[in-house]
Amino acid sequence: MNEQELMGLIYEIFDPSMPRLGPGDRDSTKKALGAALAALPDGVHAAASTKLRILDVGCGNGAQTLRLAGLTKASIVAVDNHQPYLDELQRRAEHEGVAHRVRTRCVDMADMGLDEKSFEVIWSEGALYRMGFREGLEVCHRLLVPRGVMAVTELTWLRPDVPAECRDFFASEYPVMTDTDTNVATIKGCKYEMLSVFTLPSDAWISDFYAPLERRLSAMREKYASDPERLAVVDSCQKEIDMYGKYSDAYGYVFYVMRRRG
Ligand SMILES: C[S@@+](CC[C@H](N)C(=O)[O-])C[C@H]1O[C@@H](n2cnc3c(N)ncnc32)[C@H](O)[C@@H]1O
Repeated sequence: MNEQELMGLIYEIFDPSMPRLGPGDRDSTKKALGAALAALPDGVHAAASTKLRILDVGCGNGAQTLRLAGLTKASIVAVDNHQPYLDELQRRAEHEGVAHRVRTRCVDMADMGLDEKSFEVIWSEGALYRMGFREGLEVCHRLLVPRGVMAVTELTWLRPDVPAECRDFFASEYPVMTDTDTNVATIKGCKYEMLSVFTLPSDAWISDFYAPLERRLSAMREKYASDPERLAVVDSCQKEIDMYGKYSDAYGYVFYVMRRRG
């Protein structure tokens, strides 16, 4: 299987019809948004302002984009590099009556082509790592207005004594994973102040992500029963799910909510 075929398979597994494409849940998005908006000059009233501008980086099919649209009157720019996800987001936005406030851009998050200081709020759930946590913070710092706010989830070690099997798995899957204190120090070093830090509940991994993903993996196993290469990819996705089942107390997605200094 070449690189293109592999990407095709990955996108087939992580189909736009999934409820969402990474861990997250509606309550956590609301909680992080509350902490973020409260730090803006007009506080919680910012939600009601049609002048509020939100950027959602790595939006996928838009689970959190639509939640943000539902909780505010903001205009939202939603960025992803896979057009079928953006098409699905547009369909869902139309269904929810918010399409006029959601504009999608199919671009690389490292080069979004957006004006500096043009967003009061920047969001990124389970995606900023694609350009690197620090690099993502730096890129978004430039796009935020002074004292603008940002909320991002990042895969994080939750305890120091991580079992060897788990540590070995992430040594290849996400070797740069670190702990909350280190991420907070990185955030502060990138000229933000911290507003809130909390860990996603474990159900945020299951209900809308791993449970539907497992159903897709079963279907893929049947479809590719005689294709060992594709089955190996399916198995590696299953391994990731099984890892979380065993070690959900050792790592998780942490919501980091921050404000641009200056
Ligand atoms: C784990 S998914 C999270 C999606 C969504 N935020 C959610 O929580 O459901 C990561 C998303 O980042 C997008 N992505 C990956 N690399 C990207 C890049 N370089 N530029 C823009 N988007 C990217 C993927 O297409 C995918 O939709």
